[in-house]
Amino acid sequence: MRPKTTKRTILDMRSRGERIVALTAYDYLTARIVDEAGVDLILVGDSLGMVMLGFENTLPVTMEEMIHHTKAVARARPRALLVADMPFMSYQASVEDAVRNAGRLVKEGGAESVKLEGGERYVPVIEAIVHSSIPVVGHLGLTPQSLHQFGGYRVQGRDAKSAELLLSDAAALERAGCFAIVLEGIPWPLAGRVTESLTIPTIGIGAGAGTDGQVLVLHDLLGLFDAFTPRFVRRYAELAGEIRDAVA
Ligand code: KIV
Repeated sequence: MRPKTTKRTILDMRSRGERIVALTAYDYLTARIVDEAGVDLILVGDSLGMVMLGFENTLPVTMEEMIHHTKAVARARPRALLVADMPFMSYQASVEDAVRNAGRLVKEGGAESVKLEGGERYVPVIEAIVHSSIPVVGHLGLTPQSLHQFGGYRVQGRDAKSAELLLSDAAALERAGCFAIVLEGIPWPLAGRVTESLTIPTIGIGAGAGTDGQVLVLHDLLGLFDAFTPRFVRRYAELAGEIRDAVA
């Protein structure tokens, strides 16, 4: 049996120049399959709001829903590192809220790490969670919880000023104690610059090949969520059609 992946394993992979493979899973059975396939990191993403619960975006997802799905994934006892997303408004209002909610994802959900969206402004939150012995993954760029602030799902960091801001946000997250950063929806050269500027790994989605790893929403990769497919997604199967055919 392969050894359990920890925060340390992910950091060591970066040092050795090994690519990190991350996928989402939201339930017991899928988590088992994804884990048996050998992924390094399983993310219980708040994307579950869209692909599992039918919301239009990730904003309505609650702590209770995140804990419910994280528990199901944890029951698969994955060898992969189990990371759970902190949902919208579970960490924005206060440091105290953030620590309590990160703690719930670990204590009740069985997560081994939490991920939260945002830059330098969240340094006190990240430091407090890390001081509570919970490893934190950062998330920069096209962060879906800022949908309304961005005025839609738009690639971030296109101009020089916002690119510099993203670089300094990434440095601040590393200093605050994040052990990895997801880079979503930013220009490929910028993702490469951010990756080179850090000692912790970057995990990209829609950010090109210059990151230390890649993460995808499993339902996109399998062609299960066919309402729309982001341009950067490569579909490795067309399961929605297969299911419709099989059921018909
Ligand atoms: O919620 C999610 O699935 C995510 C990934 C797309 C990175 O945050």
